Amino acid sequence: MTPWLSIVGIGEDGLDGLAPAARTLIAQAEVLVGGPRHLAMVPDHRAERLAWGSPFADTLPRLQALRGRRVCVMASGDPMWFGVGSRLARLFPPEELTIVPHPGAFSLAAAGLGWSLADTTCLTIHGRPVEGLLLHLHPGRRLLVLSQDGASPAQVAVLLTEHGCGDSRLTVLERLGGQAERRRSALARDWDAAAPVDDLNTLAIEVEAAPDARILGVAPGLPDDAYLHDGQLTKRELRAATLAALAPWPGARLWDVGAGCGSIAIEWARCGGRAVAIERDGARCDLIARNAARLGVPGIPVVAGEAPAVLAQAGAAPDAIFVGGGLTCPGVLEACWQALRPGGRLVANAVTAEAEAVLLAWQAGRGGDLARLAVSRLVPTGRFHTWHPLKPVTQYSGRKP
Ligand SMILES: C[S@@+](CC[C@H](N)C(=O)[O-])C[C@H]1O[C@@H](n2cnc3c(N)ncnc32)[C@H](O)[C@@H]1O
Repeated sequence: MTPWLSIVGIGEDGLDGLAPAARTLIAQAEVLVGGPRHLAMVPDHRAERLAWGSPFADTLPRLQALRGRRVCVMASGDPMWFGVGSRLARLFPPEELTIVPHPGAFSLAAAGLGWSLADTTCLTIHGRPVEGLLLHLHPGRRLLVLSQDGASPAQVAVLLTEHGCGDSRLTVLERLGGQAERRRSALARDWDAAAPVDDLNTLAIEVEAAPDARILGVAPGLPDDAYLHDGQLTKRELRAATLAALAPWPGARLWDVGAGCGSIAIEWARCGGRAVAIERDGARCDLIARNAARLGVPGIPVVAGEAPAVLAQAGAAPDAIFVGGGLTCPGVLEACWQALRPGGRLVANAVTAEAEAVLLAWQAGRGGDLARLAVSRLVPTGRFHTWHPLKPVTQYSGRKP
């Protein structure tokens, strides 16, 4: 099929700033699609108009119904960076699309500040919880963040300050690339929340942390007290070994079965993977959601209920499954193995003798590796110190052929 749907990026300078190819696509369109701000830039165009509805997804069937006509979507900046282009590219095959980017907010902000984009982390809090920034609070790191609206800078200033990063320099860049472009800068802890900010703004953050700030590293094995829990927590050393066996990568899917307070799912997500937590205890399901937000990966899906019955609700075949609870429930390992995609990894930890027996039998039948992990921690004992052994864990790790 010849391309029928074009997606044209437009800056604050409107049609004047467009390259000839982008102008031609707009000029030749039979249908123009966009937000009211973009559609208002072409008042005299004779094309039909389709404004994005709210929610955005409601307009997609109407767009699909236009297949084969010359349709031009007008979008902000670079449509492929947290923009409408990325969304539409999941819906339509590339041969149906013509995408013409314009310098987006990240490029304009980096140019204005003299920041190398390759050394900057580009994020968005548009339509996403602000807590997602917590994953990136490392001293010396530079962040560019697309805001939700005019209230975002003050929210981010509070978040930084509450997490020991009040000394970070925060710069708000409003209406980048237009006549009304404006820039304001202050330390996060001094941010004037009362000063009005345009809804169209991007934030630049140079992260600074107080000496006593709690900086969470990027490697798995966060301190145990980073979690809210009721005692059912895979301890730090064992968690790091478990994540190593699971071998996460960005975009990979994990089911954390018997997720407890969510530590395995959360650390998988902190490595860039997508995790689903499955937990039968309602109070722990709440802990998972709270821990995920506190640790920078808000919104991890939680399936409340008992495996194997609820596994069908966990979504597409995962790349890895961790079983941290429920090993002795009949059928859990078989159901997990079946759900795993070919080549996927199954890792399971057993603490009780009964759960260990299940793993020994499983390994004898299916192969894979077993390891015994025993960790002791030094604790004060009166005037002296002694080694306190944690409960040893038997860990199974196998790959599905
Ligand atoms: C040892 S804890 C897991 C700890 C977890 N990895 C963490 O660090 O928080 C085991 C959990 O499995 C849950 N569980 C046990 N059997 C289950 C089943 N069949 N389906 C879902 N959850 C189950 C328990 O409620 C408990 O929270």
